[in-house]
Amino acid sequence: MPRQKIRTAVLISGRGSNMIALAKAAQNPDYPADILLVISNRPGAPGLEKARNSGLATATIDHTMFNTRCAFEEKLHLTLQGAGIELICCAGFMRILSPWFVRKWPDRILNIHPSLLPKYKGLVDTHKRALEAGDPEHGCTVHYVTDEVDGGAILAQSRIPVLPDDTAESLADRLIEKEHALYAAVLSDIAAQTGSGI
Ligand code: GRF
Repeated sequence: MPRQKIRTAVLISGRGSNMIALAKAAQNPDYPADILLVISNRPGAPGLEKARNSGLATATIDHTMFNTRCAFEEKLHLTLQGAGIELICCAGFMRILSPWFVRKWPDRILNIHPSLLPKYKGLVDTHKRALEAGDPEHGCTVHYVTDEVDGGAILAQSRIPVLPDDTAESLADRLIEKEHALYAAVLSDIAAQTGSGI
């Protein structure tokens, strides 16, 4: 009997192009993950509409409506549990998850970061930082989320050369295509290894 697909949610805050890449990959009948829910912490995130247009279920949990990070994360946790989610993919999700939340989902949260970790941790300016450092190459990393920001085990990386006339924008444009392919491939591997029913 074929294994059940792992029940996956994607957390976004913005454009949602990685989320769409995962959803497209998951349309393949052989893909081992189903994208069952897209959650945004920002009501106006363009990715929410893209998700709806792709037929995906969405939820908005606006962090500004909660008095504490803990209250926001409790709601997030309950929403994910309520949907029977087994694996979480952060994709441009601009909230740091607390140790409390991360421990509820051990080895069950993935993230994509636009740098060759451990270089350039943190939420902003990774392309600019790579350029300013004179790096000959740049890239992206898919990793597990732990309570150390961008510090969880690295699952895979993609690299691009830094060209002489590159700007932060041109690097971002070239890298995002690599991100889409890498994230879809890593989710496939992790979902296949993990299996559903956990
Ligand atoms: C990507 O570069 C991702 O690596 C970073 O935020 C960006 C999100 O882009 N975490 P998108 O919302 O997936 O288009």
